[in-house]
Amino acid sequence: MSAGASPLVVAGAGLAGLCVALAAAPRPVLLVGGSAGSASALAQGGIAAALGRGDRPALHAEDTCAAGAGHNDVAMVSRLVDAAPDAVAWLAAQGVAFDREGADWALGREGGHGRARIVHAGGDASGQAIVDAMERAVAGAAHVTRLASDGLLALALSEGGAIAAVRLVGADGATRDIATPDLVLATGGIGTLFAATTNPLSADGNGLALALEAGAPGRDLEFVQFHPTALAVPGEGPLPLLTEALRGAGAVLRDARGEAVMDGLHPLADLAPRDVVAREVWRRRQAGNDVFLDMRSLGEQGLAAFPTAVALCRAHGIDPRRDPAPVTPAVHFHMGGIAVDADGRSGLPGLHAVGEVACSGVHGANRLASNSLLECVVAGRALGTRLSLPRDARIQAAPRRWVHPGAGTNAAALRALRDLLWRSMGPVRDDATLAEAERRLRVDPSLARTWQARLASRLLHAARIRRASLGAHHRADSA
Ligand code: SIN
Repeated sequence: MSAGASPLVVAGAGLAGLCVALAAAPRPVLLVGGSAGSASALAQGGIAAALGRGDRPALHAEDTCAAGAGHNDVAMVSRLVDAAPDAVAWLAAQGVAFDREGADWALGREGGHGRARIVHAGGDASGQAIVDAMERAVAGAAHVTRLASDGLLALALSEGGAIAAVRLVGADGATRDIATPDLVLATGGIGTLFAATTNPLSADGNGLALALEAGAPGRDLEFVQFHPTALAVPGEGPLPLLTEALRGAGAVLRDARGEAVMDGLHPLADLAPRDVVAREVWRRRQAGNDVFLDMRSLGEQGLAAFPTAVALCRAHGIDPRRDPAPVTPAVHFHMGGIAVDADGRSGLPGLHAVGEVACSGVHGANRLASNSLLECVVAGRALGTRLSLPRDARIQAAPRRWVHPGAGTNAAALRALRDLLWRSMGPVRDDATLAEAERRLRVDPSLARTWQARLASRLLHAARIRRASLGAHHRADSA
């Protein structure tokens, strides 16, 4: 790192963090955390971009806003969809080998998209392929210092309330403080606060909790997306995802008698927006009826494009060529997060956020499939570029107040909290259940005053005050 220049600290090394770090050259960057097992690396969907014949960014924007129930920030949507073709070209230039059909992009279709618009790399192993290419690019970037086994523990604010320093903790538990005027949070989502999620264990809301604790405003915290087809298997931890692209390729949701469950419920049937499909699967399972994803029509050849999903099924004793796979909705993505402006600035000077932990309003009340890796690239590159000018060390403000997320729960209490949030803030909500969950968090001695409970209370509060259903936030008690 060059002497005298204040580093940019990027917490989180999924796709968004990697893009910020790379684009911030020549400013010295400390990239904190590893990308292995990040939500980006696990992603089976690809990148949505209007690349097909007859497709246009305006059509991509229409689908984005329809999925988002019109709650989207339309300027942010335009920015995202207009930049999408260039984002794909940029990733290809970084070495991502996107799937092709001859000279053309091989375009897949997912829920909510009016046409085939998704580029994949290695079929449903897209996230890993993209992260691998970006990891190689970052490894060759002299301005980036990796602190892959460190985590962000706390941040310090100056007298004037701006970011002044961060405290990192290493794998051995040792801490160190680093002075910086700029912290980027790219720490991902909140899925593991819920009993059923497709998210990796690291997606526990720690970055969001720290930002809220420091006084940064949150936005749209009630909007949590449920993926309709996680593999319904017992055990704790992330549930295996069966990508929506399987339904794009012809797989069908069926009940135990083999009847197609989405027929007649939505004009797009199995490819209806995720919230619609997730609620139907949830409704049936709540009534005690299993729902299955039937992939048999894809045959050996069709399934070859889904090596990840096939391997996940096989690991659980399911042969997708012969057996329909039992599925359940599971928390997949948080549309809400730290409120940021179009340039990734939070309400706290020097604190920036990008990717799932941030909320610019682009996804509205429900994210359109394969818009999240896209957002990581578009917003990550823009934020890195904005922060690329080295700040003079002399304007570095002195740390005045340290902000920690606070004490965490023990494992048993965390399990209880996950069950509580899943039952109260799942695909179908009502005020009485939300209020009871809020009360439990206050009175249960193993939960009260923990950072997870404080964050969960913020989510529940947001879900209570939005009384009407919108997008992924469905209130059974609203008209
Ligand atoms: C999927 O592959 O079904 C998920 C894609 C996404 O979340 O965008």
